[in-house]
Amino acid sequence: MRFPSNIIILILAIAGLHLQAQQKIHPDTIRGKMQWFADAKLGIFIHTGIYAVNGVSESWSFHNRRISHADYMKQTAGFTLRNYDPAAWAALIRESGARYAVITTKHHDGVAMYDTRMNALSIVKATPAGRDMIKPFFAELRKQGIKCGAYYSLIDWSHHDYPGFLKDSARYSVEKDSLRWERFRVFFRGQIDEIAGELKPDLWWFDGDWEHSARRWGADDVRKSILQTNPAAIINGRLQGFGDYDTPEQNFPVSRPPYHWWELCMTINDSWGYQPKDTHWKTPYEVITIFADVVSNGGNLLLDIGPREDGSIPEEQRSVLKALGNWNNKHAEAIFNTIPGLPPGHFYGPSTLSKDSTILYLFLAGNPREAVVIKGLFSEIENISLLGQNSPLAWKIVGKISWSPVPGLVYIEAPSAGHDQYMSVLRVKLKKPLRLYRGAGGLAL
Ligand code: GLC
Repeated sequence: MRFPSNIIILILAIAGLHLQAQQKIHPDTIRGKMQWFADAKLGIFIHTGIYAVNGVSESWSFHNRRISHADYMKQTAGFTLRNYDPAAWAALIRESGARYAVITTKHHDGVAMYDTRMNALSIVKATPAGRDMIKPFFAELRKQGIKCGAYYSLIDWSHHDYPGFLKDSARYSVEKDSLRWERFRVFFRGQIDEIAGELKPDLWWFDGDWEHSARRWGADDVRKSILQTNPAAIINGRLQGFGDYDTPEQNFPVSRPPYHWWELCMTINDSWGYQPKDTHWKTPYEVITIFADVVSNGGNLLLDIGPREDGSIPEEQRSVLKALGNWNNKHAEAIFNTIPGLPPGHFYGPSTLSKDSTILYLFLAGNPREAVVIKGLFSEIENISLLGQNSPLAWKIVGKISWSPVPGLVYIEAPSAGHDQYMSVLRVKLKKPLRLYRGAGGLAL
């Protein structure tokens, strides 16, 4: 049977729309290049900028008129990097277990943290620090085998040719002065070329795309030129549809996101940059359980820290990274290089799977002292242990009916000792790759 071509086009269009609705990633994204990212699970986000001097919110403080732009810019005089030790930063990131780091090369305030030649607004030219902080940091990360990510804000509220400025006052309208916008385009494209050429990020973390359309930013050309310099570069989803993965921010997905690659970016307190007034720290327990939940659902966690103007990292942030690192060390097998675990309904908590689906890792929410249960498991179990301990744990099949193919419930004996301080993990070795029963019970399968 032959379909008329217009019907075929219609079918393709509907399928395309469906794909777009499900995946916010660019259709050209090459799976292979995403593999390290999918395996990495944890990244550390660093918001460094002059805003740390007074401890005000990054860029938004002047945009939202909490402080005048002139006063905000006076912070340049206090940005020293006096105690900046990029090797120690890289070591701390490594200790956390993270496989990549993303650092602000320029936030919406327009202050470049590297040596830009496109204007004079950089920590090299406009602050006592007088040096590029990104290049040496990337060099140290690379020594430690950690991938390098460059955060770059497309928005530049300090730039004379950028239309936006304060929340209620714009500089000009692009419709009325497209030449001025073109000048800005040359500027930001120049910065992107510098970063691509000199810093060679493995990952680009764009921000601020919401202020203009893909067409106006020239997003498809930005993508093309980045991939021309480095075809393996990964681009986050904040490029008006021209990125490779999605970036939910501070919001915790409840159901498993349908798109393929995603990364939750999250602060350790409630602020991206250093704000000493903000003491609403997340505890190691909170960060670890959120992390397990993210990985269980197929995402990465990009956990943010905000260093001081002198380059030191506050103790509260260091200690969370270290606690997370200890936990990661102990549970690495259940986190890194895994794939998402059981769909909701089979187990009350996060879970992951080895890539061949023969080992199931159950993250024990609340560290229960009573048996935990798996529902709908067809696969036969070979053995179970508490990850990090060798002693086997017993299990019992409950409620299996001989004449029904529906599997019984697996009750796994809770470990009597050796619980992790934050979250223990059960390692369930299966005889064959995981098979699940997804029905509603009853007689039929
Ligand atoms: C937001 C904010 C910005 C922050 C970023 C991190 O888009 O504009 O201040 O850097 O989120 O995800």
